[in-house]
Amino acid sequence: MKILVTGGAGNIGGSLCRELVKDNTNFVDIVDNLSTGSRDKLPASEFDNWKFYEIDINDEYEFNKSLETKNYDYIFHYAAVVGVNRTLENPKLVLNDIEGIKNVLNYGKSNNVKRIFFSSSSEVYGEPVEIPQKENTTPLNSKLPYAVVKNLGESYFRAYNQEDNLKYTIFRFFNTYGPLQSEDFVITKFIKQALSNQDLTIYGDGSQTRTFCFIDDNIKATIKCLKDNQFINDVLNIGSDQEISILELAELIIRITESNSNIIFLPALPEGDMTRRKPDISKMKSIMEEEPISLEEGILKSVEKLNSKGT
Ligand SMILES: NC(=O)c1ccc[n+]([C@@H]2O[C@H](COP(=O)([O-])OP(=O)(O)OC[C@H]3O[C@@H](n4cnc5c(N)ncnc54)[C@H](O)[C@@H]3O)[C@@H](O)[C@H]2O)c1
Repeated sequence: MKILVTGGAGNIGGSLCRELVKDNTNFVDIVDNLSTGSRDKLPASEFDNWKFYEIDINDEYEFNKSLETKNYDYIFHYAAVVGVNRTLENPKLVLNDIEGIKNVLNYGKSNNVKRIFFSSSSEVYGEPVEIPQKENTTPLNSKLPYAVVKNLGESYFRAYNQEDNLKYTIFRFFNTYGPLQSEDFVITKFIKQALSNQDLTIYGDGSQTRTFCFIDDNIKATIKCLKDNQFINDVLNIGSDQEISILELAELIIRITESNSNIIFLPALPEGDMTRRKPDISKMKSIMEEEPISLEEGILKSVEKLNSKGT
């Protein structure tokens, strides 16, 4: 299979590429502008079935110039401006990501790509009106630019399918963590703070809940969709259903790392910090062969990796 992964120098994209190249019948082209990603997340150099392109996916000219002669079977479109603070502070930059979505779709349409996989987000659900959040029945309350782009992106995928028969699968990722993740995200931030005995900082009183999916479960589910032709022209939540408050998470990480850190409460974020978030993952579970990794186990694996990097 010839596969293009955008955002492939990031946490989820990089982990996906590392897995895809293990199959030597795959060739993986990786595109990233290195805004939040980095080259050390790319697959190991011992694999010769991948190539990296430093490209801004939102730049139509640059994108087409570099990739027009390629014939991809599949595309994973994972590039996006991410991180709560970054997306709140740069709404125009975030909204511009719709260009990358259109570039990928136009490419897919003109080059007979078999299917495009799109990383949407739990953010499309907005403030929770029902828990757990279900793909087909929970209303989408997206208001913030990041969520609006993901929601509009989903509509674009449906539109290209309707008018051009381009196949898609939309993944609504819920908080996903792992050793390649940047400090923008809460688990990595807390682990790094705990390992250096710094205060762990929480926005608000920490009663807001989240679920956290270890990266390996995300990758297993998405690769299964690819290989077994699952969920074509469909949407699925990819996450964990083990709900925990941010305060409990901080306490758990302090316990696991045997840290002397204290917990400090900062003023609540003015917007964008949902009170509760928990997916219905029955669709995801229907294709998984093993039980998901527990939060404790995933945190331990992340701590071991971060420790071995000397962080
Ligand atoms: N990690 C999560 O919990 C989570 C949750 C919901 C959705 N997502 C989505 O999953 C995808 C991957 O997120 P991640 O957590 O791995 O974040 P990440 O920052 O590690 O990965 C995003 C990658 O995209 C690259 N990128 C950004 N804009 C680009 C552009 N214009 N052109 C080329 N490359 C660009 C970045 O450099 C980075 O490597 C994103 O689309 C994100 O919105 C992630």
